[in-house]
Amino acid sequence: MSALSVTEFAPAKINLALHVLGRREDGYHELDSIVAFADVGDSLTLMPASETSMDISGPFAAHLSSAADNLVLRAYALLNEHAPLPPVAFHLEKNLPIASGIGGGSADAAAAIRGLIRLFDLKPDASELNALALKLGADVPVCLHGRSCRMRGIGEKLEDWSAALPPAIVLVNPRKTTSTPDIFRELSLAKGQSHGAPVASSRATWRNDLAEPAIRLVPEIADVIRALSNHDLAASARMSGSGATCFALAASLEAAQDIADDVSKQNPGWWVKAGNLL
Ligand code: C5P
Repeated sequence: MSALSVTEFAPAKINLALHVLGRREDGYHELDSIVAFADVGDSLTLMPASETSMDISGPFAAHLSSAADNLVLRAYALLNEHAPLPPVAFHLEKNLPIASGIGGGSADAAAAIRGLIRLFDLKPDASELNALALKLGADVPVCLHGRSCRMRGIGEKLEDWSAALPPAIVLVNPRKTTSTPDIFRELSLAKGQSHGAPVASSRATWRNDLAEPAIRLVPEIADVIRALSNHDLAASARMSGSGATCFALAASLEAAQDIADDVSKQNPGWWVKAGNLL
């Protein structure tokens, strides 16, 4: 064992573009997405213990109904099935809003996998690890990847993507949860039906195809996009994932913080964070 405990950062995942290309025969949706990560996130500490446990602190701890079905413990169980592991006490500091389109549970699951690899000096095969991550959720492989990239398939095909992006970001959530399956369902694609065009290099053409159905189910998302778009420092305000968190890119952390301060002042109930892209 190489360390007494390890701590892994679980950064927010942002879909800068999320194009739905169509619906597959198995019901899942074929995606084409540009994904980035921010220095805003959860923190997961892993410590060898006499039995496996999990406790949660932080501003959104109370919103997680039960640690038992948490993706962190599911990630542990899945790795443990693959190769038996000693028991681990997990401590999650939950800073990101729950069910909010910025990775939350998937980011935590990826942090658990990274942490277990580090704690027990595991040497997993990369493609086996990707398949295992996908079993936990379509967003877990990209969160495990942890660097900005293009994501395709249902989330399992990752490739490097270099685009000149502004360095900073503002994340805003109206404190409304969304249900990813409900929002995909609301898109109302038949099995086998194709939908939008793939991602092109020009950022001006990027979109989130889940925004319209998400706004129908959670109208406050339109207010968030409007609040960000109204700000003259903000570029390309858009929803991430299946919402309800929206983002705007900014030319500097200072500019992002200015936008965040303004949006917070106008909407004191919303969750608002400024940060740098990783
Ligand atoms: O894999 P994950 O649990 O994140 O996905 C939640 C739900 O979102 C899936 O059960 C499916 O209904 C929908 N989904 C989809 N196509 C994707 C990813 C998710 O239809 N590419």
